[in-house]
Amino acid sequence: RKVLVLHGPNLNLLGTRQPEIYGYETLDDVNNALREKAVMDGWELNSLQSNHEGELIDAIHAARLDGTLAIIINPAAYTHTSVAILDALNAFEGIVYEVHISNVHQRESFRHHSYVSLRANGVIAGLGTQGYHAALDAAIKNADKA
Ligand code: DQA
Repeated sequence: RKVLVLHGPNLNLLGTRQPEIYGYETLDDVNNALREKAVMDGWELNSLQSNHEGELIDAIHAARLDGTLAIIINPAAYTHTSVAILDALNAFEGIVYEVHISNVHQRESFRHHSYVSLRANGVIAGLGTQGYHAALDAAIKNADKA
């Protein structure tokens, strides 16, 4: 059983980028904690961060073919702009959970709309990096049911 965690642009700066909004944990901290949890449940967790839209799309395409059961994605700024990521996710048949570290609905109005939400089975915003853990718990539970 495989889950893919995708992080969009600028999230490589997690921990140092606007920490008052995104916190002090690094992306490695987040990925390592998620992987530990996944492994305890007998899952394999792959993660990718990219500042390039096409690279995220390629990873979604690969997930269609390698038995990935769920994608947890924080598309970052592409959330609000990318029809191409939405289209790629529409071609993936498993579970999709969209995660935002910050409460996007409390921020600028351009962050209120998400293309990815049209596909996501669930959306988490404003829980900090804990949101990824909530999404992973749900992915494990729901894929086990299916
Ligand atoms: C974000 C919110 C987006 O609006 C922003 O562009 C990000 C991060 C979040 O995790 O809160 O880069 O997805």
